[in-house]
Amino acid sequence: MRILSGIQPSGQLHIGNYFGMMRPMIASMATNELYAFIVDFHALTSVHDRERLAAGTMEAAIDFLALGLDPERCIFWVQSDVPEVTELTWILSTVTPMGLLERCHSYKDKTAKGIAPSHGLFAYPVLMAADILLYQAERVPVGKDQKQHLEVARDIAIKFNHTFGETFVLPEPVIDADLATVPGIDGQKMSKSYGNTIPIFAGEKELKKQVMAIVTDSTPVDQPKDPDQCNLYNIFKLFAPAERLAAVHELYVNGGAMYGKIKLELLEILWEYFRQARERREQLRSDPGQVREILRQGAVKARAKATPTLELARQRVGLRY
Ligand code: ADP
Ligand code: TRP
Repeated sequence: MRILSGIQPSGQLHIGNYFGMMRPMIASMATNELYAFIVDFHALTSVHDRERLAAGTMEAAIDFLALGLDPERCIFWVQSDVPEVTELTWILSTVTPMGLLERCHSYKDKTAKGIAPSHGLFAYPVLMAADILLYQAERVPVGKDQKQHLEVARDIAIKFNHTFGETFVLPEPVIDADLATVPGIDGQKMSKSYGNTIPIFAGEKELKKQVMAIVTDSTPVDQPKDPDQCNLYNIFKLFAPAERLAAVHELYVNGGAMYGKIKLELLEILWEYFRQARERREQLRSDPGQVREILRQGAVKARAKATPTLELARQRVGLRY
C-alpha cells in the first residue's frame, strides 16, 4: 500500500501530532511504501518569518527522524524541494469548484483565529490535494480535523479523472478511531494554535508545567469519577502500561483517584516514553549537515516519483503541443 502524509513545520510538535499522525506513519513503514514530508509551502500560509519557517522545517525533520522515521525505508523530504507540486496545484485548481473550497472549515477557523485571509490560505486544500495526487497515494493517515481536506482531494481527483480521463488514484483517509483526537490540557482538541499542548520534546520544566496544568474537576478524592470525562485520564491512557491503566481506572470508578499523584506519574511515564527519541534528537541537532543530506536525497527520490505523474497530467489537459 502506498501511504503518504505531511506535517507542517509551524511549531513545536505535540503528542496530538504524535498519536494522530506521526506514530501511525512510522509504524506503517514496516509493511508499506511510505511517503512522509514536511509541508513548508503550507506553513507559508501562516508563517511569514523567514527564520521561523526555515528553523521549523529543520526541527520538524529532526523530530521525525528522532521518533523513528527511517529514511532508508521510506521517502522523506521537504515539500518545496519538489516544486512540481505547485504546477500540479495550478492544474488542479482549474477544475476545483469554488463551492468545494468555500465549504472547508479550516479556512474559516484559521481566519477566525487571526491568520490573514490570503489566497494561499483559501487554496490550501488544493495544494494538499496536489501533494497527495502527485504521488498517487492510496492511504493518507491524518487526524480527524483533516478529513474534510481528504474529501476535497478525492473530489478533485474524481473531477479531473472525469474531465480528462483516468489519471489519479483516489486516496482514502486513515483515521484511527481510538486516537482520532488527542485532548489538550484544557480538554479541547490539542493544537498548537490553542496553546494547550504537551510538546513531545519539552524540557523537564516545561513538561512539568504543562502536565500540572491539565484541567481536572473538583470532585472530592473519595468520590467516584467518570474516567472517560477526565482530560487527565484521557492523556494518561495514551502512555500508561495496560496494568497501570487498569489500576488507575479502578481508582476513578471506585473513588480514590488523586489528580496530583496521577499527574506526577504521567510526568514520569512521559519522560521515559520519549527518552530514546530525545537522545537521538540531540545527536541529529548537533549534525544539521547530515539532516540536510537526508532531506536532499529524499527529494531526489520524491521527484523521481512525481515527474511521471505531472507529465501525465500535463498531457491529459493539453499542456503538451
Ligand atoms: P495543530 O492542530 O497543532 O496545528 P496540525 O494541524 O499541524 O496540528 O496537525 C498535524 C497533524 O497532526 C495532522 O495530521 C493532524 O490531524 C494531527 N493532529 C493535530 N492535532 C491532533 C490531535 N489533537 N489529535 C490527533 N491528531 C492531531
Ligand atoms: N494539511 C495538513 C495539516 O495541517 C498537512 C498536509 C499537507 C498533509 N499536505 C498533506 C497531510 C498531504 C496529509 C497529506 O496537518
